[in-house]
Amino acid sequence: MILRNVTDEDLPIFFELQRDPEAQRMAAFASRERDAFMTHWRTNVLRAENVTRTIVMGGVVVGHIGSWEQDAMRLVGYWMGREHWGKGIATRALSEFLVLEPTRPLHAWVALNNLASIRVLEKCGFRALRNENPHHPDGVAEALMRLGST
Ligand SMILES: CC(C)(COP(=O)(O)OP(=O)(O)OC[C@H]1O[C@@H](n2cnc3c(N)ncnc32)[C@H](O)[C@@H]1OP(=O)(O)O)[C@@H](O)C(=O)NCCC(=O)NCCS
Repeated sequence: MILRNVTDEDLPIFFELQRDPEAQRMAAFASRERDAFMTHWRTNVLRAENVTRTIVMGGVVVGHIGSWEQDAMRLVGYWMGREHWGKGIATRALSEFLVLEPTRPLHAWVALNNLASIRVLEKCGFRALRNENPHHPDGVAEALMRLGST
C-alpha cells in the first residue's frame, strides 16, 4: 500500500466513490454534483494545512484518507471504493496515516450504524467519546471517536 499526494487525475475517481449509494448510506453523507465536488476538493480539502492522501494498492487507486481542522478539533476521514471493502485496506491505511498525522487527540465523527468504520477506528486505537453530533445537517446519530488524550 502507498499513501501518496492527491493529483488532479484522482479527483474524478473520488467523485465516483462518493456517488455510490451504499457508501453514502454508511457514511450518512450526501453526494455532491461534479462542479461542487471539484470546487470543494480544490478549495477546501486540498489546503496546505490539511493532510490528504490517495490510497494506492498494487498501482490502483482504491480510496482516500485525510485530516482537517474543524470546531477546534483535528478530524480524520476516509473513503474506499466498494470493490475493495472487507480486505483490511481502511485499517491499514488509517494505521499508516497516523504516522503522517501526529496530532493528538485526533477525532473522527462516525454514523452509529457504520459498524465497519467504527471497527476500523477501534482497531487503530480510537475510543467513543460521545454519541451525538449536533452539527450533522440531517440529524443522523453519530459518535465522536478519539485517539489520544486531551
Ligand atoms: C468504512 C470503510 C472505510 C471500511 O473499509 P474497509 O477497507 O472495508 O475496512 P477494513 O476491511 O479495514 O475493516 C472493516 C472491519 O469492519 C468489520 N465490518 C465490516 N462490515 C461490518 C458490519 N456490517 N458489522 C460489523 N463489522 C463490520 C470487518 O469485519 C472489519 O473488522 P475485523 O477486521 O475485525 O473483521 C468502507 O466501507 C468505506 O469506505 N465506506 C464508505 C465511506 C465511509 O463510511 N467512510 C467512513 C466515514 S466515518
